Amino acid sequence: MNTTPVQNSLAALIQEGQFIGWTCQFDYEKAVVLTCDLWKARARGVPHNCFLLAAPAGFSQEAKEKPPDEIILLRVTGSALLPADDETLQAKIRNLKARQFPPGETEPAAVAGGDFQFGGLGCRILGTFYLQEGKLRLGSDIESYFHAPHLEVYRPTGTALEAVVNYISPERAAAAREEARRLGLPGDLPRFPIGTVRYTSTDRLHRGGDCEPSVFHLNAVDFLARRTAVFGMTRTGKSNTVKQLVSVVMRTSRDSGLKIGQIIYDLNGEYANANQQDQGSIAEVFPGDTLRYRMLPTPGFQLILNNFFVQIEEGHTTLKGLIEANKIHRTADLEAFLSMDFSEPRKEEYNSDGEFQRQFGIHNRKIAAYQTLLARAGYELPANFKITFEANAGIRNKVNPSVDPANGLTATQAGEWFQLARPIQDELITTSGADWIDPDTNVLMNLLLQRNDQGAYIPGFRVLQPYRDYHAPNRTTDVCDEIYQHLVAGKIVILDLSVGDPVQRERLGKRIAQHILRHSMGTFNSGQHAPHIVIYVEEAHNIIGRNELLTDIWPTIAKEGAKARLATVYATQEVSSIHPNILSNTENILVSHLNNENEINELAKYYDFRDFSKSLIRAQNVGFARVKTLSNPFVIPVQIDRFDPEKERQRAAVGKRG
Ligand SMILES: Nc1ncnc2c1ncn2[C@@H]1O[C@H](COP(=O)(O)OP(=O)(O)O)[C@@H](O)[C@H]1O
Ligand SMILES: [Mg+2]
Repeated sequence: MNTTPVQNSLAALIQEGQFIGWTCQFDYEKAVVLTCDLWKARARGVPHNCFLLAAPAGFSQEAKEKPPDEIILLRVTGSALLPADDETLQAKIRNLKARQFPPGETEPAAVAGGDFQFGGLGCRILGTFYLQEGKLRLGSDIESYFHAPHLEVYRPTGTALEAVVNYISPERAAAAREEARRLGLPGDLPRFPIGTVRYTSTDRLHRGGDCEPSVFHLNAVDFLARRTAVFGMTRTGKSNTVKQLVSVVMRTSRDSGLKIGQIIYDLNGEYANANQQDQGSIAEVFPGDTLRYRMLPTPGFQLILNNFFVQIEEGHTTLKGLIEANKIHRTADLEAFLSMDFSEPRKEEYNSDGEFQRQFGIHNRKIAAYQTLLARAGYELPANFKITFEANAGIRNKVNPSVDPANGLTATQAGEWFQLARPIQDELITTSGADWIDPDTNVLMNLLLQRNDQGAYIPGFRVLQPYRDYHAPNRTTDVCDEIYQHLVAGKIVILDLSVGDPVQRERLGKRIAQHILRHSMGTFNSGQHAPHIVIYVEEAHNIIGRNELLTDIWPTIAKEGAKARLATVYATQEVSSIHPNILSNTENILVSHLNNENEINELAKYYDFRDFSKSLIRAQNVGFARVKTLSNPFVIPVQIDRFDPEKERQRAAVGKRG
């Protein structure tokens, strides 16, 4: 053998048994292939939209000595008329009319033979494979063509087809290696196997029998820090695609040592599987690496919520949103409570250190009054939590000489303290030189004791009682930060947003997204490498829709997250509802069945999706997707693998042992 492996990478694309005909017409865009029934049958058919490879004639016999200079990649887009077709058709019809035998009995030999078997295939030219400096390259057009074409045409299968659909340019391969090096990984960035090539709904021949399906991979270098769209009608496999992606990314990242955090915005609660005893969920397949969050206490779930006694501003914002959503009568005190600002005083806002200290003391007393109010409304105090604030000796003596709030009070003690203090406020103000209290604290005491300034009854703390479930007494850190740390550690976080108040869900969802963006951007801006994080969003038309402001958090992440190594995967059934600005910046698109021309037309604006317009409307097979990735200059039809928890679990177990 005098061939080098390099030459083989081009020669290996041609499989002699897969010959289907010759090109008989060529231009820069299209080609016509002359084929015949016998060759088609030998190659196990020529499905609509299948890939074909055209190589110089005689190449297959001579390959070993003289590899081809180039191989042209074609896609079958339909049939093509041959000049003799009319006559052949006339002859065929004459022949059929002359048939004297009904089906099943011996046919006249003439019908099966000769000219009748030949026909033309219309093809689009997708590109040219060639070698440059020993590396396989794919140009997305042809450079030149011969008017007397004489190219042998093959339908690639198995490994040859895999080489076609998984082609990655030397530049992108180098970029992937570079990124792997930056991340401290040995070798290349991984690829994620997500499905197998499938051309048509009927797949008896091209995928049936002993045909080994050709695996299609999504390159990590295409997927990470990029945008991926998953489109398709309801129940055509979008969520399955997301699950498959999550698990394959998890599996691959484990094997390669590359940490990739993944967070799923699960609007329908279908990833978290709270109800079905965990069978077949991602959480069950990767138990040690999956964290589930919910807004209501549920076994197996963390609370998305915050601790109102610790995250003061966040808790107050939540209460404000919940109260405002309920159309209850608002007393003047409640109104004042809703518009309170609990942010800490900042040093630079004050002229002197003394003034700042004074404001800080006032602020702390206000917080204490608020915490006491929460406790009075039945919000559980965190374990060992004490309400603490400064009160000078003069005030202490007037209110209750036996306790010093600076040492920390129980909720009951604090309640009693404010109850004693409220009626003697005027005295206290004189005692302390007017700085012991501010109007906000006065309002909080009114709510606590259910009396307004005029001494009339108000519902006060009772208004806060219905929302106790939104408070998480056991949490010590902000839930956003906790989630971010999980992502940095390469975990899967499932945010089950199927329960709880809709306004709060949306707000918390956004807040978490904001936190992720801010922190990853911060890392990027400080000159370091942000962690790789993938954010999956279902029903994406709701958050990156046409009418969203591009400055909102979701569009911002979709637009600018790449810098901070944030990848977004968004799923929706409405291509047309996605903000055009975001869609046109989406690097990877996976589409399954769509049921109307409007959506198809929207999609047909992108790449060569138009080739699949008919098949997308016609084929309703679940998980049958047409996929355009960043690395591939053309669309590839793929059957997405089914997320198979049992298989995935076995793999995970092997991975752990290995
Ligand atoms: N690639 C696939 N292969 C086999 N079955 C699938 C595939 N994708 C989805 N399914 C099944 O089809 C049903 C609907 O899929 P789903 O992913 O929930 O659709 P969507 O999210 O688009 O509404 C589910 O029962 C799922 O298990
Ligand atoms: Mg779904």
